[in-house]
Amino acid sequence: MSYIPNEYWTQRGKDYKKNFKYDHKFELQEQILIEYLKKYSFDSVLEVGCGFGRITKLLLTNFPEIKEYFAFDLSSHQVENAKININGIENNAIVQFAVSDIQSFQPTKKYDLVIASEVLMHVLPSEIQQVIQKLVSFSTKYVCNIDWFEEKIPKNAESFNFIHQYEKIYNDISSIKKVYRIPVFKKKGFLSKVDVKQSIFFSELRD
Ligand SMILES: C[S@@+](CC[C@H](N)C(=O)[O-])C[C@H]1O[C@@H](n2cnc3c(N)ncnc32)[C@H](O)[C@@H]1O
Repeated sequence: MSYIPNEYWTQRGKDYKKNFKYDHKFELQEQILIEYLKKYSFDSVLEVGCGFGRITKLLLTNFPEIKEYFAFDLSSHQVENAKININGIENNAIVQFAVSDIQSFQPTKKYDLVIASEVLMHVLPSEIQQVIQKLVSFSTKYVCNIDWFEEKIPKNAESFNFIHQYEKIYNDISSIKKVYRIPVFKKKGFLSKVDVKQSIFFSELRD
């Protein structure tokens, strides 16, 4: 079956939240993300592909100093669930939501941190460079994406999942000063580890 991103995610968004199972891998991903972001300071956030608001809630809860937060997703169902997900969070009034895909999104301002969790891995290889350039252009300080990443690309990946060469793509953009890759894994005893096979890619922009 051929993968048409907007059709696929509009359809899947209808019951994404119902089918979502929070497990120890998401817990580890969130823990490493928060630990890493605590090294930086940002007042405003643009979240791309917010889904049902898992990361929205996580950031609002862990960074009460955020003053502005804009979150969007191409799926209206996901956006409605994201609004519900942040109900009762103290600083939720700062969040604005919109329904849009990245490709057609035009913000009216720039944000300190632009973040996309498990979104870029679903962007077609033919579009990824342009999409990342766009995300960088929306930011004043940092761009962060969390996505599936393995050095060796497995042969039988699902049609909607891609491993992109994020570091190279960021490094090719002149406004990027430095890119960090933080693998999401945890040692568990002497020989074993929990490996989510994801990395956080964190890019700093030049002043
Ligand atoms: C795997 S979910 C991740 C949701 C959320 N970021 C999280 O980490 O829980 C991918 C989300 O990206 C959205 N998405 C995929 N491609 C997109 C695009 N081109 N523009 C905006 N949203 C997109 C989907 O609708 C879906 O909600």
